[in-house]
Amino acid sequence: MAAQGDYNTYFVREIEKNDGSLLKVSQCFIGDVGCVVWDAAIVLAKYLETKQFYDPSSGVNIWAGRRVVELGAGTGVVGLMAATLGAHVSVTDLEDLQSLLRVNIHDNQILISGSITAKVLKWGEDVSGFLPPPNYILMADCIYYEQSITPLVKTLKLLSGPETCIICCYEQRTEGFNPKVEKQFFELLRQSFNWEEIPSSKQDSDFSSPDIHILHVRKKV
Ligand SMILES: C[S@@+](CC[C@H](N)C(=O)[O-])C[C@H]1O[C@@H](n2cnc3c(N)ncnc32)[C@H](O)[C@@H]1O
Repeated sequence: MAAQGDYNTYFVREIEKNDGSLLKVSQCFIGDVGCVVWDAAIVLAKYLETKQFYDPSSGVNIWAGRRVVELGAGTGVVGLMAATLGAHVSVTDLEDLQSLLRVNIHDNQILISGSITAKVLKWGEDVSGFLPPPNYILMADCIYYEQSITPLVKTLKLLSGPETCIICCYEQRTEGFNPKVEKQFFELLRQSFNWEEIPSSKQDSDFSSPDIHILHVRKKV
């Protein structure tokens, strides 16, 4: 299946799952930031497979049957991983990314044991189509753009309930506006959410990095 529109030339990145199967993720040569797989997405996707979430040898699978919404999904690799582990996933992004998301869903269908659908969700806008609140909200490398910080936190507030766990993975960047944008995000987040940082010992041993952070974020009660 070929991606349509402006995003019509693409190349494939393979991500190996712990069971040896391969997620085949198309990326575009031409397009905005969402059309390639960012490192934070790989770290988060591999974190979803760690034993605390998924351990077939002891029958642990917290993803089975869980409702998951991925924000700013880009290529959709994180949501795809969750869907291969049994979750019911909506991978969301702007309209421009929908054809690429559909290509990646189509090309990985054989690995999916839950379900996955691509949908438009622009931060700050109506989320009623995604309610009741999902069990998990996943986001990789979504803290990077000053104008989107307020709408992003608004979406987190609208979409999450008291039981929702937001798993936020971001690459800490020291250049340009990035430190300011991060600071703004966490100041705004603090008003309505608490979070804990996941130590590298609980992340995938091969796919982690000191400058990529994983947080579990929950709404204040
Ligand atoms: C740096 S990319 C990360 C993509 C993907 N999560 C990854 O890590 O590979 C940021 C993503 O956020 C999406 N995005 C940016 N602003 C958005 C907005 N206002 N509403 C929804 N998505 C947005 C972009 O389209 C892009 O896919």
